[in-house]
Order: sequence, then structure tokens, then C-alpha cells
Amino acid sequence: MLNSGFATIAEDGDAVVILDQTRLPAEIAYVRMTHVDHAAHAIRVLQARGAPLIGATAAYGVALGLQSEADDATLAAVCRQLAATRPTAVNLQWALARLQTLLAALAPAERRAAAWAEARKIAAEDIAANAAIGQHGLSLIEHAAARTGIAQVMTHCNAGWLATVANGTALAPVYAAHAAGIRQHVWVSETRPRNQGHLTAWELGQAGVARSFVADNAAGLLLMRGEVDIVIVGADRIAANGDVANKVGTYLKALAARAHNVPFYVAAPVSTIDFDCPDGAAIPIEERDAEELGIHTIGLAGCPVKNLAFDVTPANLIAGIITQHGVFPPQQLARLHRA
Ligand code: MRU
Repeated sequence: MLNSGFATIAEDGDAVVILDQTRLPAEIAYVRMTHVDHAAHAIRVLQARGAPLIGATAAYGVALGLQSEADDATLAAVCRQLAATRPTAVNLQWALARLQTLLAALAPAERRAAAWAEARKIAAEDIAANAAIGQHGLSLIEHAAARTGIAQVMTHCNAGWLATVANGTALAPVYAAHAAGIRQHVWVSETRPRNQGHLTAWELGQAGVARSFVADNAAGLLLMRGEVDIVIVGADRIAANGDVANKVGTYLKALAARAHNVPFYVAAPVSTIDFDCPDGAAIPIEERDAEELGIHTIGLAGCPVKNLAFDVTPANLIAGIITQHGVFPPQQLARLHRA
């Protein structure tokens, strides 16, 4: 079984095992995936979620989908099925394009083994990228702690190890600071409607990191009162101009952070940057099922709902993007593209 303190996805013979994030934090349960349908379902219902983990799950989904047949038609159908699961996190399309390009150039008989190997590689790269993000973000938390004695960090959604193969993105610097013995405290917002903040509070608790759980709308007051030194969030897609799509509610935190002169950082691997996407307006924003807002349970059945799962934070509100290659002003992402 998976080591639930560190990894979200693992191979198990011809199967892939994931932590079922829809059951956390109440229960630690696993899903054993043996078919591409299982991977597509896991991504769609958020059993596997968070941009980097979605990418890795999709990569393993391709491997599962080519188990018995690996001709061109099957490869195309499997990639199409996985691509249709969620629109915003670009890691999904990135991983599928990577697999498709590699596999299409091989003979069908070679594709199955190559798909497993490439999925394994994507997972390993994610672990390494996130570890590097942790080291690059560490100094930001270190500076905050040096200034105030204890770094007060605010995050949103879950961009910890649960959202990746391991290590996390936004929480990677927090874990690096924890390992370095730096005093810190994390404000965790609940992240309605899917409550990914529960996951963040749970994983920080498991690691022994001091944290407090707050309602989403408490962020403005905390920032106004000077109770936050730095905001660090993850990303689902970063446009070429540095605009960032992340879980809905991120933009409001960025606005409040700017109003109170608190630096707002985004942590993400380069696989989350979509250099073909010119700006935030071009990022597809997922709209999820109305039921997620629970209107049927509060006597509002039939009321029209718009359940926007993500929002866009403009580049001008972002102090820096923490990647595995260093911290970049959002306007300078092109440097990464060229590299
Ligand atoms: O809908 P989710 O739970 O997949 O959304 C996740 C987020 O928005 C995360 O903040 C983002 O993917 C970064 S994860 C390292």
C-alpha cells in the first residue's frame, strides 16, 4: 500500500493504486485502478486531484488503457477519454500530449511498456520538481520568520503532497521550513464547496505543522490585521503572461493581499505553465455539478447555480512564481520557456 505520509499514487503490478481523496480526512482508503475508465473516473470525481497529480494519474491512465490493445485508434481514444475529464489543470493535457507524442512514434507492440515507463518518469519528475520548489520557497518563509519571529503563511485549497505525487507545491516551502526548524503557522481556508482545506489541515497536522482552520471569507480580515506575512497558493494553469488559474477564491485572497501589502506567491512546476495560452482570459474554467453547492439540502432545489471551480489571478497581483528552477516574476516566465 501507499505510504500515506508521502505519496498519493503507486504501481501495484499491472494496477495503479491511489489514495481516495474523497474519503479523507475521515478515512484513509485506496482505489485500485486496472482500467482507463477507473483513472478517468478518479480524476473526474476528485479521488485524484490537484494539477500535478491529475497529470500523473492521466499518464498512468494511458498505460492502463493500452494493456490489451495499443494500436493507433486505441491510443487516440484513451487520450481523448482522459482529456475530457477536467478542463482547467493543464498538467492533464501536458501529460497526455507527452505520452501521445512518444507512443505514436513507436510500434504498437512497444507502446505498453513505454507508457508505463513514461508515467513512472512523470511521477518521478514531479517528486523532484516539488522538492526543488520547496528549497526555492524556503528563503521566503525564512525571511518572514526573521522579520516577525514566526512566519504567518496563508494558503488556499490543497496544494500539498496530496495534490501532487509527493512533496506538494504551495506547501513544499512550508515543509522545507518545518524541516529547517523555522517557526511558522499556516492559515488554512476551508475552500468551499469541495473543502480541499480539510485536506490541507489534515496533511499539515500529520506533519506536525502549526495551522488554524478558517472560513474562506475570514482571509480579508486576517490580512487587514497584519496576521499574515506571506500568501502561497498552487496553480492549475499559468498563462504565458503570468496570469494564474487556481481554485476559486484565490483571486479574492490576492486582491486582499495587495490591499494590505502582503506578498502573494504562486508555487508550481513548469508543467503547469501553458506557454501556448496567452493570458488568463484564454484559460478554460471548469464549471462543476450544481449538487456540489448542496442546494437540494437547504430547500433551494431548482435554483439556478453557477459552480465555478477556479478563478484567475492577474499577473500584476503576484510577487513571484516559485518553480523548480527558481522564483520568477510572473512577467518573466518567457525566460523559462526559452530555457
Ligand atoms: O479541484 P482541485 O482540488 O483539483 O483543485 C486543486 C487546486 O486548485 C490546487 O490549488 C492546484 O491544483 C495546485 S495543486 C498542487
